[in-house]
Amino acid sequence: MSQYRFPNDFWWGSAASATQTEGAAAIGGKGKNIWDYWYEQEPNRFFQQIGPAKASRFYEKYKEDIALMKQLGHNSFRLSISWSRLIPNGTGNVNQEAVAFYHQVLDELHKMGIEPFVNLYHFDMPLALQQIGGWENREVVDAFQAYARACFQLFGPKVSKWFTQNEPIVPVEAGYLYDMHYPNIIDFKRAVQVGYHSILASAKAIQAYKEERQQGKIGIILNVTPSYPRSNHPADVKAGKIADLLFNRSFLDVSVKGYFPEELVLLLDEHDLLPSTRAEDEATFSHNTIDLLGVNYYQPRRVKAKESVPHPDAPFMPEHFFDAYEMPGRKMNPYRGWEIYEKGIYDILMNLKNNYGNIECFISENGMGVENEDRFKDESGVIQDDYRITFYKDHLKWVHKALAEGVNVKGYHVWTFMDNWSWMNAYKNRYGLVAVDLNNNAKRSIKKSGWWFRDVATCQGFSD
Ligand code: BG6
Repeated sequence: MSQYRFPNDFWWGSAASATQTEGAAAIGGKGKNIWDYWYEQEPNRFFQQIGPAKASRFYEKYKEDIALMKQLGHNSFRLSISWSRLIPNGTGNVNQEAVAFYHQVLDELHKMGIEPFVNLYHFDMPLALQQIGGWENREVVDAFQAYARACFQLFGPKVSKWFTQNEPIVPVEAGYLYDMHYPNIIDFKRAVQVGYHSILASAKAIQAYKEERQQGKIGIILNVTPSYPRSNHPADVKAGKIADLLFNRSFLDVSVKGYFPEELVLLLDEHDLLPSTRAEDEATFSHNTIDLLGVNYYQPRRVKAKESVPHPDAPFMPEHFFDAYEMPGRKMNPYRGWEIYEKGIYDILMNLKNNYGNIECFISENGMGVENEDRFKDESGVIQDDYRITFYKDHLKWVHKALAEGVNVKGYHVWTFMDNWSWMNAYKNRYGLVAVDLNNNAKRSIKKSGWWFRDVATCQGFSD
């Protein structure tokens, strides 16, 4: 009997995204997205100059991969549809080769008894739409709704869990504040507009879901990173609250409750950062809240009251309101540099229970990135990733506690099934349960954590 036992119908699986796994970037009628384009323009931005065309070849190897998922105990798997594969120009013609591909993938998952969780957007704006401004342009909101509607019509009968977007704050931060994603603009006001349109697009996709009379559930996946202040001093607490408002509640409140927090609106207004909106948007948000929330968690955000003085020419940034706080003694992942704070996952879940109506949720990403992971191979070539097993266990214990305290948490998906290409970091940080050998035809081999995961999923729990 497992010491940490989870319900029989708990969702065990992993998550992935189209651009990070499919490869075949210019094959099968796919149009370009911002990643294909940016790589062509600035290959040096990408680790070891590896671009999205070299993603882990799920496009051709999906049958093998799904068989491995089955072997590793998955009862569910999240993939994303590539917008620019399905609709190469972002709007207009649907690519029939893509329709056939996604049907085959969904059929294969069902055949193996793995429930597909399908996400519509994982950082991959079609190039043609970025060229008219991407999320800054309201026309792209309508284009997204039309794309979502097409997905529901095409694949609706095979999918009962849909997600509008993954971590919509990331394209805002990375693309419009911190120079990490295309279009690498640094402009707080434009960033707010981008965030506003992308969350509006999410609500409009939910609206289309209802209009299409779909039978399943629809939600969003958010990295609701807890913001811990350095101390209980009011200035630190205020810094933590502002970070939470800007990076979490901006998406969480409107998705779950249907409206933005008043404090956020006041804050943006005070700094002339309010986005342009239309009167009808309020009803769109309030009528189209989510059924199900995916929670991605990697590491907390720690902040303190502003101490540093920005350079007079520096642009106005969210860091106007707080400084990052490097808490002494915090536990770090030695192989990737992110903090490990397992209790964060519990704090998120309890917050959902206490302040968001105990919305149905699941852990949609949790994982540990490791550089140069081949160094942990044993003589037989299996990666002995005990550190990852410890990471999962320590987080799952807190999920288990939250469950025991009544949180409506339905599953745990790791990031990720197999090592994959990850944006500017390409293959730098490995996260998979399964290793991918880039020098040997992208050969898959199960890591120790993969076998461990299989045991946990099949026994619905684990003991220390
Ligand atoms: C998550 C994203 O936030 O972080 C994934 O949803 C990404 O797409 C993952 O791959 C890990 O990031 P990195 O930079 O360590 O590869």
